[in-house]
Amino acid sequence: MLKVEEQTPVVFSSELLAKFDEIKSRYPEGKQKSALLPLLHLVQAEYLWVSTSAMDQVAEYLNIQSIEVYEVATFYTMYFLKPQGKYALEVCRTGPCCLVGAEKILSHLEEKLGVKEGEVTPDGLFSFRGVECLAACGFGPVLQISPEYTFYENLTTESVDKLIEDLTNKS
Ligand code: FES
Repeated sequence: MLKVEEQTPVVFSSELLAKFDEIKSRYPEGKQKSALLPLLHLVQAEYLWVSTSAMDQVAEYLNIQSIEVYEVATFYTMYFLKPQGKYALEVCRTGPCCLVGAEKILSHLEEKLGVKEGEVTPDGLFSFRGVECLAACGFGPVLQISPEYTFYENLTTESVDKLIEDLTNKS
């Protein structure tokens, strides 16, 4: 069952649709469904999440069934199916990172941001969640920030505080 917390209708801007057109043009006629993944990334970069309304519109744009978009968006964990903060912090919580303090980092984020995993701070800036291996196992604890996918390694509670401070100041 697809879980989407909000059903806010979205209307794609002409700029976003122009980017859609450019990506779709990379694929041969009849194979344009293959543009689905990058189109969903564009939607997420624009809205910070992928709503049902947005998925329906992507389906219409690609002339495919909505269920085909839902199947993809719910399979890949990099797509957010509910609203996120401007900076979505994703902390690896797989074994090797847990051995060097990933759970402490997650607890610290909860305390520092004053929200629970999956929630968004009242100013809309931050959300966080634990994710599976981020392929930087020798440098844990690690986190990535979506949607830019910038990485931060060898985390400490102090470096997390500094990161949050820097991101807050730049917003
Ligand atoms: S276990 Fe954390 S990056 Fe692989």
